[in-house]
Amino acid sequence: MTTDIAPSIEELRAHLARANQSHLLAFWDQLEDDARTRLIDDLAAIDFDRVPGWIEQYVRHKPNFAPKGDIAPPRSYAFDDTIWDQAQYRLIGEGLLRAGKVAAFTVAGGQGTRLGYDGPKGCYPGTPITRKPLFQVFAEWLLAANRRWGATIPWYIMTSPLNHDATVQFFESSNHFDLDPAHIMFFPQGVMPSFDMTTGKILLAEPHKIATNPDGHGGSLRALAASGALADMRARGIEHISYFQVDNPLCRVVDPIFLGLHAAAPDSSAEMSTKVVSKTEPAEKVGVVAQVDGVTQVLEYSDLSDELTSARDPDGRLRLRAGNIAVHAISVDFVERLNAGGACHLPFHRAEKKVPCVDPTTGRAIDPNAPNGIKLEMFVFDAIPLAGKHTPGKGSIVYEVDRVDEFAPIKNADGADSPATSAALQTERVARWLEWRQHPVPRRADGSPDCVLEVSPITAMTKLDFQSMMLPEVNPGAKVAL
Ligand code: UTP
Repeated sequence: MTTDIAPSIEELRAHLARANQSHLLAFWDQLEDDARTRLIDDLAAIDFDRVPGWIEQYVRHKPNFAPKGDIAPPRSYAFDDTIWDQAQYRLIGEGLLRAGKVAAFTVAGGQGTRLGYDGPKGCYPGTPITRKPLFQVFAEWLLAANRRWGATIPWYIMTSPLNHDATVQFFESSNHFDLDPAHIMFFPQGVMPSFDMTTGKILLAEPHKIATNPDGHGGSLRALAASGALADMRARGIEHISYFQVDNPLCRVVDPIFLGLHAAAPDSSAEMSTKVVSKTEPAEKVGVVAQVDGVTQVLEYSDLSDELTSARDPDGRLRLRAGNIAVHAISVDFVERLNAGGACHLPFHRAEKKVPCVDPTTGRAIDPNAPNGIKLEMFVFDAIPLAGKHTPGKGSIVYEVDRVDEFAPIKNADGADSPATSAALQTERVARWLEWRQHPVPRRADGSPDCVLEVSPITAMTKLDFQSMMLPEVNPGAKVAL
């Protein structure tokens, strides 16, 4: 050990001992100086005062998120515009976009383990014909939106330390998809140590490296502040953030109606609002927005009893059907408030995962074939109950959109929410838009389109853009990209 780093390592040793994590220095004596420096950096990033509490609460025990209290569906605005006056909120939202008060924000720091794609998920070719990377689909939305509303909508992209460089390089090598790089900001989210499932000890990925995982999409609310993105938004005059995930190619990157509702609906707190789609099957694995004792929040499907999940209204629809699609409008003020007096803390959720690691006693590398580790993540929707907390009588707006128009997630390699189901939904959406114009679309006996269709946001952002377009003939088996 060199003398100049001795004091800090001694401090760390004491710190680690208090947290019962002394094993993290098991290989210290064998490490070269640069490996020691890396390990110290990793250790310095962990809040060891909180580690024993995390182990007790999340590793030794499974936190119980089962909702207690009176559970009711939320009041929501449905996309059926005969029920309420969409036009006025569209105008308000368009005004916000024109005035440069809206930023787009993509959370792209996930590991995408279920998809198993080798690279950041945003680079995944997500459209059915032209195989456009997901990032390009969103970039095209922004190009179209900037043009339509005469705006320059800045785009903030949260990465993780694991995919940051690859993401930035991808944009550079793609010429930022014709967007001005001065208005795109990339920043990595924070990480959490991964824990041994049985001992509760923090895992070592290598003798000089802590095993870590990104701290969840909820980590975005603190990373926005820590990275300087929030200050950048303030400096640009941004008031509202259009938050969305990287894996939904049908996402409306900015939606004037949603933004208008969020900012101006009488029951809005204009702090954090949510888009939902109507769940039709109790078994569908999406969280639902509900009111628990009058407070709007998202309940995970795994935390709900079968009775609640399958309860139906008299009209036969599921009672708790407001499926969360993780598209939020969030005000800059709200994110600042959450970070006032230190980083925003949301509860952690635990996941059991396979975490490659080294055995601190033998130095043997372990590549587990069953979950051995606990990964802790924050979820962004846990901020929803905090919205409107200081604005009595107001709440968090819930806007129900058409599933086929806006939700075709790519989560798994096969089966539900896979590239194949997403491609089918993308085709179905264009087919409906064509048929809305009474334009023929070949369909099979089961009703599915007998063709593959794709539309760029530059061509049409919503079906209304099809109104004045010349539409191509679509023959059975054809592939048509518009
Ligand atoms: P998912 O919950 O689908 O997780 O993320 P994931 O990491 O992408 O995929 P799996 O679970 O490993 O298969 C939903 C969205 O939240 C982002 C993802 O990039 C995706 O846009 N996310 C998730 C983050 O930005 N950071 C995280 O730590 C986790």
